[in-house]
Amino acid sequence: MNVIITGADGQLGTSLKKYLKSKKINYLFYNKKKLDICRYDKLDKIFKKIKPKIIINCAAFTNVDLAEENKKKCESINFFAVKNLIKISKKYNTFLIHFSTDYIFSGKKGNYNEKDKANPINFYGYTKLKAEKIIQNSMDNYLILRISWLMSKYKNNFLNNIKQKIINKEAFSMVNDQIGNPTLCSSINEFIENFCLKFYSKNILYTGVFHLSNEPQISKYDFSKFIFQNINKDNKKVKYKNYIKPIKSKNFKNIAKRPLNTSFNLSKIKKTKLIMNFNWKKEVKDLLKEIDE
Ligand SMILES: NC(=O)c1ccc[n+]([C@@H]2O[C@H](COP(=O)([O-])OP(=O)(O)OC[C@H]3O[C@@H](n4cnc5c(N)ncnc54)[C@H](OP(=O)(O)O)[C@@H]3O)[C@@H](O)[C@H]2O)c1
Repeated sequence: MNVIITGADGQLGTSLKKYLKSKKINYLFYNKKKLDICRYDKLDKIFKKIKPKIIINCAAFTNVDLAEENKKKCESINFFAVKNLIKISKKYNTFLIHFSTDYIFSGKKGNYNEKDKANPINFYGYTKLKAEKIIQNSMDNYLILRISWLMSKYKNNFLNNIKQKIINKEAFSMVNDQIGNPTLCSSINEFIENFCLKFYSKNILYTGVFHLSNEPQISKYDFSKFIFQNINKDNKKVKYKNYIKPIKSKNFKNIAKRPLNTSFNLSKIKKTKLIMNFNWKKEVKDLLKEIDE
């Protein structure tokens, strides 16, 4: 069984590439150079040859601030290219796995479940929601996995950025009113591997929208404090208060507006039993050690 993964050089694509290995399933990774998802002709050529049973789309325009200034580019990757994926998946009877975001929510409520109304407050969130809607309205064989604060040892991400500041002994301000769920790439890897194996053995097949992240939910300030305390655990003299200053979002200037509380309710994904452990704390500690070495 062939499975195609797009956006293979991004954070999630890289993590899946390092993790997914199976004798039964042939995972084929395509970066932007090998497969630009905005090009339907390229998709058709590859699908014709490979005939994938599943396509996992990790390609996206993910810079939330740049999205406000490059609306056309952002919409072409996050929405119009997804229309290509829908068309090609229907043509070759391929199951589509697509990633979406907590930024489709306004952040006024928190603890969002999959049925809660989405109402994005920035352009990135708007394009991701538009893609979700067209997938839901066009096909049955899909999974939309909404994730948030993606982290791993790879690439630029919130964990690695904060860690670097702390290691450099840089003082910084962090918002204490933006709350969410960290999402470990390793939990996504586990879900995808188990889903593909189930799909292969035609055992259980889930479809629809799922919130996939880790718990507990936390503010960006408290998460930074957690990283600080773990990096400095053997040096009780350094106080996080001297380095990390709490700040309200309204006083922190960003090009794109950020929703405040986009935390997820994870009850639905837990019922699939495709992820064993949802707690992020141990793995984040391990990631900090690994990065330190
Ligand atoms: N990162 C987060 O915190 C976060 C949070 C919530 C949801 N998500 C979602 O999770 C998914 C994966 O995110 P990520 O952090 O792994 O993103 P990422 O690191 O930005 O990777 C995205 C990859 O897609 C590639 N790409 C861009 N345009 C493409 C095109 N037309 N055709 C093929 N590939 C293209 C990018 O290449 P270039 O870099 O060369 O352009 C990049 O390698 C995305 O759907 C994102 O919206 C991420």
